[in-house]
Amino acid sequence: MKLEQKSREELGIFLTQYLSEFEALKAKDINLDLTRGKPSSKQLDLSVGLDSVLEENYINVNGVDTRNYGGLDGLVEAKQLFAPVLGVAPDEILIGGNSSLTLMYQYLNLATFFGANGPGSDWMGEGNPKFICPVPGYDRHFTICESLGLEMIPVPMTDQGPDMDAIFKLVKKDVSIKGLWCVPKYSNPTGVTYSREVVKLLAELPKVAGKNFRIMWDNAYALHDFEDELVIAPLLELAKKEGTQDSVVMFGSTSKVSFAGAGIGFMSASPSNLEFFKKYLSVQTIGPDKVNQWRHVKFFRDIVGLRVHMKKHAEIIRPKFQVVFSKLEELGELGIGGWLPTKGGYFVSFETLKGLASKIITLCGECGVKLTPAGSAFPYKNDPDDTNIRLAPSFPEISAIEEAMNVFVCCVKLASVQKLLESK
Ligand SMILES: Cc1ncc(COP(=O)(O)O)c(C=O)c1O
Repeated sequence: MKLEQKSREELGIFLTQYLSEFEALKAKDINLDLTRGKPSSKQLDLSVGLDSVLEENYINVNGVDTRNYGGLDGLVEAKQLFAPVLGVAPDEILIGGNSSLTLMYQYLNLATFFGANGPGSDWMGEGNPKFICPVPGYDRHFTICESLGLEMIPVPMTDQGPDMDAIFKLVKKDVSIKGLWCVPKYSNPTGVTYSREVVKLLAELPKVAGKNFRIMWDNAYALHDFEDELVIAPLLELAKKEGTQDSVVMFGSTSKVSFAGAGIGFMSASPSNLEFFKKYLSVQTIGPDKVNQWRHVKFFRDIVGLRVHMKKHAEIIRPKFQVVFSKLEELGELGIGGWLPTKGGYFVSFETLKGLASKIITLCGECGVKLTPAGSAFPYKNDPDDTNIRLAPSFPEISAIEEAMNVFVCCVKLASVQKLLESK
């Protein structure tokens, strides 16, 4: 029963019904928030053992006193723990502080103003640097580009990853395009996981791109499966075959594994890239928080330990997404929205009928449900069709998600029926 196929009279009846539902919800004094892509307290509780695991034993296997200065690229044991998360070898990874986003900012700052390949390779030296941004995407990636003056070029996401035809066309004709963002697994916000074909094409891309091109591979949700482990194609391995490994920079963190504010960020790049990055980093710090790295090593032990831990996260987070998907079903049946039934990650990306995202977000706000502002998932906050709404169900309790989704569904129906009536 698609709303679009209904007569004017039938739509009028729906409008009356949806309006009265809307007024009833508005009167309920709801105060809920679906904006925050952060772990719930129950998820954070899974890692409280981090606090006691060291038992005052700060000296690591190699005799390093983790409390002291030094170790710019992180503890060897932490490299061994996190390298498999990115699918790289322990000597291809650098372990940082509590945020991968910081590493991404630092890397792009280095590449833009100082040169990721040393003096003379900076992007500013080559004119007006641009960056490809698959959309919808992660707003903080776009904020980094904006703050560094990297002009953003949006490229649509498909259900297989970014539109690679469009990307190849762009980089072939514009050498000032210096890189692109990728969230290859359970992408923020679409939930898309890149297909092998897309990853293969990404490995080839630097061969046709301009000098010093970088693929910013932000694998933030590498371990965040709701059920079975989803394995993505190994970008670095494929890039090595193409000879493009110097263009691949990968990131990950335990922000949504251990503590979001006190986890570990890490990055992988080719040896020469890491050398230049370490030089740049050494100006800013004598070394990262190795005590935190050491307690993560002791707590998780190895990749198996990480995966077992993530199963516990999945038990908490999966039912929350199930609520969202089951509430959205009605909108699918009415033909007034689209989304991907993602099997991991932290977000659901909802596509409204054209031009309705801002209106729906405002209507939800009137009922006391806060949603991420319209346009957030686009460069310069500009969603040209005004259709994208990001839902983040990880933090609230299930009962709150149910209530918030009732409001959301009602507001989508109301805004959609109003729009369809206008066009009849
Ligand atoms: C795609 C993506 N990358 C990075 C981050 C933040 O990472 P970190 O906490 O390691 O800085 C997030 C957080 O939502 C994210 O969604």
